Amino acid sequence: MDQTEARSRHDALCRAIQEHNYRYYVLDAPALTDAEYDKLFRELLALEEANPNLVSPASPSQRVGAAPRAGFVPMAHRVRMYSLDNAYTEDDLRDFDRRIRERLEPDASFHYIAEPKIDGASIEVVYENGVLRAGITRGDGQTGEDVTESVRTIRALPLELRDKRTFTLRGEVYIHRADLAAVNRTRTAAGEEPFANPRNAASGSLRLLDTRLVAERPLRIALYDLVETYFESHHAMLQGLMELGLPTHREEELVQDLDGALAYIHRFEKRRSKLPYDTDGVVLKVDELALRPGLGFTARFPRWATAYKYAAEQARTVVLNISADVGRTGALTPVADLEPVQLSGTVVSRASLHNLDYVAAKDVRVGDTVTIQKAGEIIPQVLEVDFAQRPPDAAPWEPPDACPVCHTKAVRVEGEAAIRCPNVACPGRLKAAVFHFTRRAAMDIDHIGHVLIDQLVDQGLLLNLADIFALPAKRDAVAALERMGEKSADNLVAAVAAARTGRPFHRLVTGLGIPHVGTVAAELIADRYGNLRALLDADPASLKESLAEIHGIGPKIAESVAAFVADPNQRRVLEAILEHGVETVAPAPKAAPTGPLAGMSFCVTGTLTEPREEVWKRIEAAGGEVHRSVKNGTTYLVAGGKVGKTKIEAAEKKGTKVIDEAALRTLLGD
Ligand code: IVH
Repeated sequence: MDQTEARSRHDALCRAIQEHNYRYYVLDAPALTDAEYDKLFRELLALEEANPNLVSPASPSQRVGAAPRAGFVPMAHRVRMYSLDNAYTEDDLRDFDRRIRERLEPDASFHYIAEPKIDGASIEVVYENGVLRAGITRGDGQTGEDVTESVRTIRALPLELRDKRTFTLRGEVYIHRADLAAVNRTRTAAGEEPFANPRNAASGSLRLLDTRLVAERPLRIALYDLVETYFESHHAMLQGLMELGLPTHREEELVQDLDGALAYIHRFEKRRSKLPYDTDGVVLKVDELALRPGLGFTARFPRWATAYKYAAEQARTVVLNISADVGRTGALTPVADLEPVQLSGTVVSRASLHNLDYVAAKDVRVGDTVTIQKAGEIIPQVLEVDFAQRPPDAAPWEPPDACPVCHTKAVRVEGEAAIRCPNVACPGRLKAAVFHFTRRAAMDIDHIGHVLIDQLVDQGLLLNLADIFALPAKRDAVAALERMGEKSADNLVAAVAAARTGRPFHRLVTGLGIPHVGTVAAELIADRYGNLRALLDADPASLKESLAEIHGIGPKIAESVAAFVADPNQRRVLEAILEHGVETVAPAPKAAPTGPLAGMSFCVTGTLTEPREEVWKRIEAAGGEVHRSVKNGTTYLVAGGKVGKTKIEAAEKKGTKVIDEAALRTLLGD
């Protein structure tokens, strides 16, 4: 075969393979058997081996990169990626429709396009001059992560288009229910945590560093947007994408008005369970693209689109047992063990009962027939009991008097609907703490899930959170664990090593599991202290007060953090975390405030003409700092009506100027 022949055969093979991928993954109508497809693919590989000059990045042989990536780099979206507002009822949709009509010219005529809301991960895909160049996750809408290499493994997506123009496309990466179940079986067998839902599976897979592993995940993609489009309507654009050979969901329908949209929503409610992938609603968009700019955006959503969400699916089943799970704070959470039942595509055998009050209020008993519901990724919950079905001998549930894991006598917490295991060394508590510490919202350590954590704690390889960072030194012991092996141990060691440096400090604070400290409080605390050393070195005598001065941190959180840091057991663990070389990064410095109050600080007291929170907001918006109490350096005490003398005296002692509300307004420039 001469070069010209080789080239034209190569072109033909590339085209045939892509055509087949499209038919297989998008149209679900393969024209070749798997064996015929493999034959084409082998021919392509042989041809490329004989003629290495023919290998181009657009060849189907080049979907999988060679070496694993080191990490992901941020990549900016050229045009912001918005999210969608939600509608849950017909009334919500009528409001949406009314708001649109109010904003448009009275005689404007328009249509809606209705399409499925696919449960997956949003993605931006960029073709430059017809060549697939970038895949970017949504991130915060302005900047996402560069997952180009992962996106290239999605076989339905052409690496090159016939049309050599530049296209910025948006869509959803998703996975079929059956494929997710298979992936989860493999994960569970490897001791890894199964993905809770298709969205996690899609985004988790895109973020795998090794594209060979991504390619093993049967990811699919449906594109639903062409940014800066030249089409006149959304439906023409979807049609155009299809003609370009790009994968779309092909479930859209153009409807006349809201009633047409409602009819689609009712029809699709029946259809969605028959689709091989999960959808959680219907997206309605104004079809005429020329009308969209006039409707514009709110801070987060387009005004010309909304997502109607179907009510979470429910199922009925029987409670086989009620047991208690130990949380990281020792709280014992009642859990119902259920007769396994199919719900939203998975088999459910456990459901949360939240707390003692919930069990009592719902009067859930062993033997009861109950309705359960799954909402998004949250574990299913028991909604209600069918009392008519209750067996005559069903007895009210008695909370355990001892921890089910370490058997320490449980204690009731005053004022809370919880009982706790008070044993700080309880292995059950530790397991929950390690799980929390390693999640994405915290230290983001991959390759560690419930099964592995159970083994690590049970085998004494983890005695506290800091020991996680000692795991690389215990690699062989980890590899020797049941169902682990060399590769999984290496993965874990690499994941732990990666988490040792560069994680934001607030993620570490979140991960510590300090009671009452969620991600928001963790960020505020991290902002103030910058790193763990500084938090540990803060003066214990005044730590609680200093924390309470942080705007947004209330006395309960301040108390809890101060107690946590002062606790000798916790301190030992925190010091050990530092000894293991954990180095977090400080939050990005906030831009110096600007505005008429920049550089000034205010404490507000007494009754004012506006709620205090409003006044705080206005001060901050004008660049000022809010102090909860007068402290050294507070510039002004704003005294409203009915101010006690002691406050004024305190201000005078600290050199803080006392002003009234009118003076504040003058400073604000009102
Ligand atoms: S349109 C400005 N269409 O739902 C338009 N989004 O809850 C924004 N999604 O971030 C998106 N199917 O990831 C659109 N047919 C569809 C969709 C869809 C799923 C996702 C998308 C978006 C999220 C908003």
